[in-house]
Amino acid sequence: MLKHTLLKAVQTGAAVMQSYFNGTFEITNKEGINNLVTEADHASEKAIFEVIRQDYPSHYILSEESGEIIQDSNYKWIIDPIDGTVNFANGIPLCCVSIGIEQDGKMILGAVYNPFINELFFAQKGFGATLNDKIIHVSKKTEVIKSALVTGFPYTYLDAPNGPLQIFEKLIRKGVPVRRLGSAAIDLCWVAAGRFDGFYEHKLQAWDSAAGFLMVEEAGGKVTDFTGNHYSPYQPHILATNGHIHQELLDIVNGGEVKTIPAHQ
Ligand code: IPD
Ligand code: CA
Ligand code: CA
Repeated sequence: MLKHTLLKAVQTGAAVMQSYFNGTFEITNKEGINNLVTEADHASEKAIFEVIRQDYPSHYILSEESGEIIQDSNYKWIIDPIDGTVNFANGIPLCCVSIGIEQDGKMILGAVYNPFINELFFAQKGFGATLNDKIIHVSKKTEVIKSALVTGFPYTYLDAPNGPLQIFEKLIRKGVPVRRLGSAAIDLCWVAAGRFDGFYEHKLQAWDSAAGFLMVEEAGGKVTDFTGNHYSPYQPHILATNGHIHQELLDIVNGGEVKTIPAHQ
C-alpha cells in the first residue's frame, strides 16, 4: 500500500511538472544566484501532498518548498517536487520527482521518476532497486582512473579546502570523465544503474538524496559522508559509489591524488 501511494505520488508530481515544461510559468529566486523555484515546483508539490494525504493523512512530511509539516508519526515522506529545477526552467529534460519514505528514522522506500525519458526508479530496503521494474546493479569498475563520475555544484560556492572545483580539477586533469547533470536524484539513480561508477557532492539537502541514496545501496553500492561514515541525508556531504572505488574516491575527496595507470599497463 505504501509502495502504491509512493508510485502514484511521484507519477502525479511528474505529470504536473511535464504539463508546465517549455510553457510559460512564474520563476522566483531563492538563496544564492540562480537558485530558482518555479510555479511548477509548487504545483507538483501540491499534487504530491494531495496523493499522500488521501491515503496517509497523519504521516510526517518534509518537502523542499513547504519545509516540515510535523505530525506525530513513525513515517516521514521526504519530497523534492522537482529535482533539477534549473534544467527544468531552461527546457532541459533532465529533471525528476524524488520521494523517500523513512520509518522510525530509517529510509525504507524511494522512488525517482523522470517522465521525459520515462525512467521510474524504485528501491525498497532489503529488496533491491529497479528501473522500470527491472532489477538494477551498480557497475564493477575498480579504479577511479578508469571510472566515469558525476558531481554537482552548490548554488552558493563553498570556498573551502578540497572544495567542489578543486576536486573536479584534480580529476579532470588526470583525464577522469566527470559529468554534471544538474539533478542529484538522477545522479544517484544513474550510479545505481551502473551508468556512473561514483557520485560526490558537497552540499545536498535531505530531499535531494533521500530516495537516491537508498537506490544506490539497494543496487549493491556504498554511500557515506566524507569521513567514510554511514550516510545520513541530514548532513551535507555525499559520496555514493559502486563500492569498489569508494575508498580511493574518498581519499581523493579528502585531498589525496588520483592513482594513475603505470606506463607498462
Ligand atoms: C539541486 C540539484 C543539483 C544539485 C544541487 C541541488 P534542485 O536541486 O539536485 O544537481 O547540484 O545541490 O540543490 O534545486 O534542482 O531541486
Ligand atoms: Ca533538489
Ligand atoms: Ca527541487
